[in-house]
Amino acid sequence: MERILLLPGDGIGPEVTREAQRALAVAARRAGLKLDFTEDLIGGASIDAHGVPLTDAALARARDSRAVLMGAVGGPKWDALSVDRRPEKGLLKLRKELGLFANLRPAAVLPSLVAASSLRREVVEGTDLLVVRELTGGLYFGEPRGMALVSGKREARNTMVYDEIEIARIAQVAFDAARRRRKKVTHVHKANVLEVSQLWVQVVEEVAKGYDDVQLEHQLVDSMAMLLLREPRRYDVVVTENMFGDILSDEAAMVTGSLGMLPSASLGEGGIGLYEPVHGSAPDIAGQDKANPLAAILSAAMLLEHSLEAPDAARWIREAVSAVLAIGHRTADLAEFGGAGDPVGCRRMGDLVVERLEAGA
Ligand code: IPM
Ligand code: MG
Repeated sequence: MERILLLPGDGIGPEVTREAQRALAVAARRAGLKLDFTEDLIGGASIDAHGVPLTDAALARARDSRAVLMGAVGGPKWDALSVDRRPEKGLLKLRKELGLFANLRPAAVLPSLVAASSLRREVVEGTDLLVVRELTGGLYFGEPRGMALVSGKREARNTMVYDEIEIARIAQVAFDAARRRRKKVTHVHKANVLEVSQLWVQVVEEVAKGYDDVQLEHQLVDSMAMLLLREPRRYDVVVTENMFGDILSDEAAMVTGSLGMLPSASLGEGGIGLYEPVHGSAPDIAGQDKANPLAAILSAAMLLEHSLEAPDAARWIREAVSAVLAIGHRTADLAEFGGAGDPVGCRRMGDLVVERLEAGA
C-alpha cells in the first residue's frame, strides 16, 4: 500500500487536484498498485484554519507518504501578509524540509495544441525541453535576509549562496535526465557578473566529465531568455539555479502555449516526491469549474513514473490526455485553439480522461 498525500491548497487547487486524484486512482488500479490517499491543508487554506501555511502535522503526514500531490497556493485574500506568513511559505517549507532540491519541469508542444503558442508554428513545433531547476538553495533560502531600517532608510537584503555539493547533485540530475533524452545539457548562469554563477560553471564542468556521451553548453541567462523564444527546439535539458529556473520555466511554459498543461515533479534525497502543476491558484476562476485540470493530471503521471516506478501507468495517462485533446475537447483556456464544440469544464475534462483510462483497461 503506497500512501499519497493530497494537498489541494487554494483557488483552483482543489478542483484540479480532485481530477488528478481520480486519474491517478484509475491508472494505479489498472497497473495493480494499491494507493492510500490522505488529505491535508496548505497555503491560505491552512492559514485560515490553523494560522500557519503548513502545520507540523501536515509536514509529518508528507514525510509519512510516498508522494505528495499538490494543487496550488495563494490568492488575493492573503496578499497583505508579510513574506514570512504568506501561503507560498508553506510550499517553500515543504520543499526545503523534504529536501526536494530537483525540480523537473517538462515543456513539450503537443501537436494538437501548436496553435496555442503565441509564437509561430514553425518556431515552436517539435519543442520538447526539460527545465531542471534547483529548488532548495539560492536567493529563496540564502541568509542573511530581511528588511531593516538602516540610518533612517529602509533596506532589504537577500543572499544568493550555493556550495559545490548543492550544484553537483542538481547537475547530476540534469545529466542523468539528458542521457534518457537527446543527450544535451544547457547550463544557464550569469557568470559575467556573479561569483555564484562562476562556481556553477566550474562544478557543472566537473560533473560533465562523468558524462562523455552528453553534450554540455553554458548560456547566459539574459540571452537564454531571448534564445528560448527564438529557437526553443534547440534545447533538451536546461539546468539552472532556483530563481533563474523560476523565471525561465514560466517562459518555457508560454512557448508551449498553456500554463494549464504543464506538470512538475520535485525530487530529493529522501525518496519522497512532490508533484504539482506549474500554474498557480487562478483565484479569478476558482470554484467555477473552468480550470484546466490537465497540468495536475499530467503531474499525477509524473508521480506514477518517479515515485511509484509505474512508467506504463504514466504513459496511459499521457496517452489519454493526448487522445482527449486530439478529438477536440478543450477547457476554456484553450478553447480557441483547435477545439471542437463548446469548451468543457474542469470536471468534464477529468471525466473524459478517466473514461479513456478505463476504456484502455
Ligand atoms: C513556482 C512558483 C513558486 C516559486 C511560488 C508559488 C513560491 O512560482 O513553483 O514556480 O517561486 O517557486
Ligand atoms: Mg514560478
